[in-house]
Amino acid sequence: MSPVPWHSDGFFVEAAAGDLLGRSRPHLTGEIYFQEATSMLPAEVLRAALSNLEVSSSQPLQSSASDTGRRLRVLDACAAPGSKSTQLGNWLEGQGGLLVANEADPGRAEILRTNLLRAGVVNCLVTCLDGRELGDLAPELFDAVLMDVPCSCEGNARKDPGSLLRGSGGAPSNDGTPPIWHRPLVEMQWELMRSGWRALRPGGYLVYSTCTFNQWENEAQCVKLLEADVATELGGFRASAVDIAAVLNFPPSAASAIRGIAPLFSEKAQGQRSKGQSHNYPKV
Ligand SMILES: C[S@@+](CC[C@H](N)C(=O)[O-])C[C@H]1O[C@@H](n2cnc3c(N)ncnc32)[C@H](O)[C@@H]1O
Repeated sequence: MSPVPWHSDGFFVEAAAGDLLGRSRPHLTGEIYFQEATSMLPAEVLRAALSNLEVSSSQPLQSSASDTGRRLRVLDACAAPGSKSTQLGNWLEGQGGLLVANEADPGRAEILRTNLLRAGVVNCLVTCLDGRELGDLAPELFDAVLMDVPCSCEGNARKDPGSLLRGSGGAPSNDGTPPIWHRPLVEMQWELMRSGWRALRPGGYLVYSTCTFNQWENEAQCVKLLEADVATELGGFRASAVDIAAVLNFPPSAASAIRGIAPLFSEKAQGQRSKGQSHNYPKV
């Protein structure tokens, strides 16, 4: 085993050790959880943002219940099977915070609940709702929102090479929008993002993540959120991108290797123009 450099609780495990650990008591009792190291990034970014209050914020969040007089509220809007929820829930417990872990699919919501129980996360509500409704159901309720949306899963290429073709195949249309077959998924992701944004309180943080590579499902969605006219549509609150390499204290060499790192992470600011760079991604 070797440590994950940017996460003190993370370890890379050799396949043979993984087989053994997969049948071990710590796995069954939820003391360890298997996932790709990159899967830990979104929750770690959110955790670091909520902890590192010197990161630019017009309305800084307080890191603990004793500072604020109330508990941090975090929403994981697409949460099953729960890798990120267990990560966030364990951290939030130490902060006296509350996690709402939502999953639209009832069967997967049950797996999510089981995994949270196994991991000993009790400061948590599991809901089974369409994430696209959460913004209207709980407007501006959360200090932080994780939108780990359903995607074309190109990141599974190692396990499933066909995922690369499914994600990126097909010619883009002439106007720079995604291929037609791709649009329903992209549209759903955008509706989820918009709902998450509504559920976020001003000054809060939203992390949008996928396990896919193509720009329509990633950068283009974040750029859309950063655009001024969208801010008007979403209640006048502008998003500003935050440099997550700085949040995670990544060295510049590592940061430049991570594509789209800045727009991944958005801060909800009132009356501010977007601090994002100029972007040249296609329209969603
Ligand atoms: C990428 S997976 C989430 C993985 C999870 N965050 C984790 O780290 O374990 C996306 C999840 O979103 C769920 N989902 C799909 N459509 C949804 C919707 N409209 N609202 C909420 N969840 C949805 C899927 O069933 C799937 O479980």
